[in-house]
Amino acid sequence: MILAEGMLKPGALKGKNILITGGGTGLGKSMGEYFLELGANIVITSRKLDVLLATAEEMMAAKGGKVIPIACDVREIEQVEAMWKEATGQLGQIHVVLNNAAGNFISPTERLSTNAFNTVLDIVLKGTSQVTLTAGKDWIAKKQAGVFLNIVTTYAWTGSGYVVPSAAAKAGVLALTRSLAVEWAKYDIRSNAIAPGPFPTEGAWSRLLPGDLVKKFDPAKKVPVGRVGEHQELANLAAYLVSDYSSYVNGEVMTIDGGEWLKGAGEFNNLDVIPEEMWDMMEASRGKKA
Ligand code: COA
Repeated sequence: MILAEGMLKPGALKGKNILITGGGTGLGKSMGEYFLELGANIVITSRKLDVLLATAEEMMAAKGGKVIPIACDVREIEQVEAMWKEATGQLGQIHVVLNNAAGNFISPTERLSTNAFNTVLDIVLKGTSQVTLTAGKDWIAKKQAGVFLNIVTTYAWTGSGYVVPSAAAKAGVLALTRSLAVEWAKYDIRSNAIAPGPFPTEGAWSRLLPGDLVKKFDPAKKVPVGRVGEHQELANLAAYLVSDYSSYVNGEVMTIDGGEWLKGAGEFNNLDVIPEEMWDMMEASRGKKA
């Protein structure tokens, strides 16, 4: 198995300047590391400058290249605009925006306060649209090409209980992705999304499912291929979608979940609990009737 291997050829992202929201930790960091390895310069943003500074140091020591950390709460438009000014000021042009920053609370919906609900909507939907609008307007004004890659989730189209503000917000991000893919293609701006299934991260897993809950709701058990994802697998897909190799891919959402959401959707998929002997019995009884 080559799960942990990079897929694109060396230098595939040379000359690209890529901005990653939520780039200091988790999946954002993993994707950033691979972009850096492929020759890109990256800007990483989040609310926590200390985390960003440490990540930037670590990444540059490991992979070389340039990593620019900029503190920015994507919910605050003034901070988003200041961050964009700083990023473009330092790098000249940003070629790719990876909207990865997210927030989520696992909870019965009726237990969420209005502020809790709005907090998730604000980070995921408002944050993504604010970064997208800020970047897109600047690209259009300067006649620069651009690529958006937005991280959504498979419950953006199915919806999901217990993560309702996240589901509503991610559905909005998916609509934003597909809408702008058409509207802004004339400006040479592409928009795509990735819907990842379970990829273990510190933030999402230990905080969203504290204590024994992770064991009790082992996500690997829901995945037909029988395992969770490797970060490099997601990084490979992301690198392809931000690279020029995917120039003809626009308005697409690529699912990378080992078949997880389809397993939940197919009416008879849970019949995999039936043992072979029982299928044998059913087959035998069918034979008798014939
Ligand atoms: N479940 C339900 N409600 C929660 C909650 C939880 N686990 N944690 C916080 N809230 C509520 C708060 O009580 C508050 O509502 P209130 O003012 O009515 O009391 C509201 O949500 C906002 O909380 P606050 O902590 O002030 O928000 P914040 O802006 O400081 O931080 C997050 C929000 C999402 C960034 C932060 O909670 C966080 O880092 N979460 C874990 C990381 C995460 O979600 N990662 C994303 C994985 S996809």
